[in-house]
Amino acid sequence: MSKEDIEIFNEIAPEYEEVNDFFSFGIDRIWRRQAAKYAILDIKTYSLLDVATGTGDFAFDIMSLAKISNKNIEITGIDLSNRMLDIAKKHAEEKNFKIDFEIGDAMQLQYDDNTFDVVTNSMALRNFDSREKFFLEAFRVLKPGGKLVLADTARPVRFPIKIGFYLYSRILLFEGSIINKGYSFMVNSILKSDRNKIKSICNDTGFKNIFMKNLFTGIPFLLTAIKE
Ligand SMILES: C[S@@+](CC[C@H](N)C(=O)[O-])C[C@H]1O[C@@H](n2cnc3c(N)ncnc32)[C@H](O)[C@@H]1O
Repeated sequence: MSKEDIEIFNEIAPEYEEVNDFFSFGIDRIWRRQAAKYAILDIKTYSLLDVATGTGDFAFDIMSLAKISNKNIEITGIDLSNRMLDIAKKHAEEKNFKIDFEIGDAMQLQYDDNTFDVVTNSMALRNFDSREKFFLEAFRVLKPGGKLVLADTARPVRFPIKIGFYLYSRILLFEGSIINKGYSFMVNSILKSDRNKIKSICNDTGFKNIFMKNLFTGIPFLLTAIKE
């Protein structure tokens, strides 16, 4: 992400959650909760890295589920936007969740090879300069047998959602141009994103057992994969 793009995220950080709720009618919260279930493993104690954690919503959903499921997950959340992370830290304090939030770049993760049992990423892949680099880095820091859990939004492929989303995106782009160019940036990134291409990059990285499914409404999707 360029310095200018980081500034866009720093700028929208204070209203990021409200705007997400507004544009998605609150459905983005359902997507994250649906995807979080896939980050709960059969083992009792494990480590998880949430890449591009933003204000930490996905990490919090996973932590809440872990508590209910009686799992001990050590979660680290990284992001390039310090203002997003400030909000994440504040929420963690309010929720009394112990999560390490650190500045970090998805394109060059600051961790050793084979460090984490799970790597997660929600709603951020389309913002990365190189999706190939993200998959390579996730693969590198995952332990053998480790799991990648990714939730993202891409151009819908099925009629009539495809047409409905195209028309809705025009409205969002118009609203974005009035409110803040950061929102237009996010809508454009969805329109450019192709889920089949993402699956093929994941496969080319060396991940196995790739599983993909649509999340509620068919606009976002979930991808899980294993580093054998
Ligand atoms: C649309 S937000 C998603 C945040 C969060 N994961 C969620 O589900 O709401 C995208 C986030 O990706 C972060 N980001 C973009 N490129 C990044 C990179 N190379 N490394 C780390 N974070 C990055 C941005 O700062 C922003 O917080």
